[in-house]
Amino acid sequence: MERLIIKGGNHLQGEVDCSGAKNAGLPILASTILLEGSAFIGNLPHLQDITTKLELLNSMGSSINFHEDGFIEINSSNILLPEARYELVKTMRASILVMGPLVAKYGKAKISQPGGCDIGSRPIDFHLSGLEQMGAEITSDSKYIYLKAKELKPISFTFPRVSVTGTENLMMAATLIKGETRLKNCAKEPEVLELANYLNSCGAQIQGAGESEIIVNGVESLNATRWNVLFDRIEAGTYLIAGAITNGHVKVNKINPETIDIVSKKLIEMGVKVNIFKNSVEVDATSSDLKAQDIFTEPFPGFPTDMQAQFMTLNTIAQGDCTVEETVFENRFQHVSELRKMGANISLNENKAFVSGVSNLVGATVSASDLRASASLVLAGLVGKNKTHINDIYHIDRGYECIEEKLNKLGAEIIREPVVD
Ligand code: EPZ
Repeated sequence: MERLIIKGGNHLQGEVDCSGAKNAGLPILASTILLEGSAFIGNLPHLQDITTKLELLNSMGSSINFHEDGFIEINSSNILLPEARYELVKTMRASILVMGPLVAKYGKAKISQPGGCDIGSRPIDFHLSGLEQMGAEITSDSKYIYLKAKELKPISFTFPRVSVTGTENLMMAATLIKGETRLKNCAKEPEVLELANYLNSCGAQIQGAGESEIIVNGVESLNATRWNVLFDRIEAGTYLIAGAITNGHVKVNKINPETIDIVSKKLIEMGVKVNIFKNSVEVDATSSDLKAQDIFTEPFPGFPTDMQAQFMTLNTIAQGDCTVEETVFENRFQHVSELRKMGANISLNENKAFVSGVSNLVGATVSASDLRASASLVLAGLVGKNKTHINDIYHIDRGYECIEEKLNKLGAEIIREPVVD
């Protein structure tokens, strides 16, 4: 086990590059199951979740080759064992993204029950009801979900509520189903559009991705192509807040500003100067008195739930009071108890947090939980007086590539060390 030790109080200055988006890479890797030939995927972040997804594909029979140019070659056109084992699914829920491709391409799948996680029960009933409506026969026991289908048929399906991986799973399955499939109330996240763009480059006929209704006309086969994964908007937003919370001046490069427009707007409302460039966003908070702002999370293009914890940290030291309302997941306030240990003034009532700004946070020993809660503790450590020790940092490493290197390059003082019991 490792921990981060952060010495607070430095004003971050300089430029940082984003890495590829985990939540775009994961569905794209799963989609290789649909393809003939070798896919060459570039700009994948070096994260545990990406490694786990590659291990999962390899365990099913995919061949994986790492090339010196940074591209990973994946050939999943000869899957021998269409199943996602418990050992892999328990460490990464996004393993369920192989379900739609396996049923569509191989007519069967055996997927370990994904279970819940820190932020909620995370059911997959929409994924299953959509595949069932397509013609999959689904049974399950306490450990596994079993799917089989002689032939899937095109459907018109409305998601009961917006689901990112639900949209991705059914959209992937539909690419090989003869006829027209209509998916309604779809997720509009940039990562959904990225997946559709990749599959269309392989010969799929997907229209409307990024909008509420997606229409897929199935094709006989798809041919793998070369693709660079889009950059990570949540990582970008996290580093912009690192600049804002330390009254610093930080420019985040290799990001499409449109994908974090609502984050930039919220920072401006808080009193931070934000400059937008073609592939960069810059914050200048050197003379900002941060003003607390309410947060209400929603599916894209609303305020992203994956930025809620990070903005809560920013609000803990802003002037005034605000409300942070989490509407996407039922238990995404794990960071609150840890922020309180550092002097934050936060009270909770169901899915609402009430934050009263304090003049400063104080370093403490805190524990990471889910990925984004962990990032919010790093941000708190950057401003907490004295030192903050963050334990269980494997959560952070699932979603942030080289977080301490990137922040130290901006002037932070963070060290990573093993925890010796
Ligand atoms: C994706 O999770 C992301 N993960 C999450 O990022 C992100 O927080 C989430 O979308 C929301 O934006 C990946 O893309 C790999 P949902 P996903 O299905 O698809 C309920 C991170 O930090 N629901 O959009 O699992 C569900 O319980 C991670 O990188 C059902 O009820 O989320 C939740 O309340 C965390 N039944 C809501 O919908 C279903 O079948 C939205 O979940 C599916 C979802």
